[in-house]
Amino acid sequence: MNVSEAVAYRRSVRGFLDKPVDIALVKDIVERAARAATGGNLQPWHIDLVHGDSMKKLKAIMAEKIAARESEQQEYDIYPRELSSPYADRRFEVGEMLYGAIGIAREDRKGRAIWFARNFQFFNAPVGLFLTIDRQMGPPQWGDCGMMLENICLLLCEAGLDSCPQECWAVYPKTIGAFLGTPENRILWTGMSIGYKDPDDPANSLVPTRAPSSEWLTLHG
Ligand SMILES: Cc1cc2nc3c(=O)[nH]c(=O)nc-3n(C[C@H](O)[C@H](O)[C@H](O)COP(=O)(O)O)c2cc1C
Repeated sequence: MNVSEAVAYRRSVRGFLDKPVDIALVKDIVERAARAATGGNLQPWHIDLVHGDSMKKLKAIMAEKIAARESEQQEYDIYPRELSSPYADRRFEVGEMLYGAIGIAREDRKGRAIWFARNFQFFNAPVGLFLTIDRQMGPPQWGDCGMMLENICLLLCEAGLDSCPQECWAVYPKTIGAFLGTPENRILWTGMSIGYKDPDDPANSLVPTRAPSSEWLTLHG
């Protein structure tokens, strides 16, 4: 798989097989992904990989939290509070496409909530990744972390693995911070599921659209 193929192939996968993943392989991928460029070579990311017994423990903790409908104070807004067009439209569209693919109607709020909670079981993936960043860092360094995350996603594709980045974990910063033992000076940006895609899971039939480049690309000649 060359770079173009990996970029074209990568998708957010929301249903994984019960197939074990070699954690040494994931560790190697994450280490290689750290060739990502960063302003001033700050390399501002911190990564935690969760697997094996730790993964079982975390999934159990989260199942309890979700069942008890516990919520926590978020440390950042995942989306702008007043998200405007065209961004809000794109968000709406992908949500409709996803729930359409899995057959849950818009008015079935409970059904959607139950399905969304699969996020907190890593969509059955055997490996979870968390990316935290020092609180002193600003938007440029968060952008650097995005370069790292995309490198990881693409290298996973090359290795036959799939992933789903998951900012939803930012809804439970205390739980995850305590579980990982994250120092107070760091903030949780995102989690990510890692595993082998279940080709039969209808959620994985989703192919999100992309806006035409005329909406966001300007050539100056
Ligand atoms: C930083 C980040 C956080 C995301 N968080 C979630 C999430 O919490 N749950 C989820 O199902 N998808 C999540 N996604 C996946 C996006 O919905 C997905 O990337 C987008 O719809 C485009 O689809 P694609 O990745 O398949 O191209 C996240 C993606 C990124 C980059």
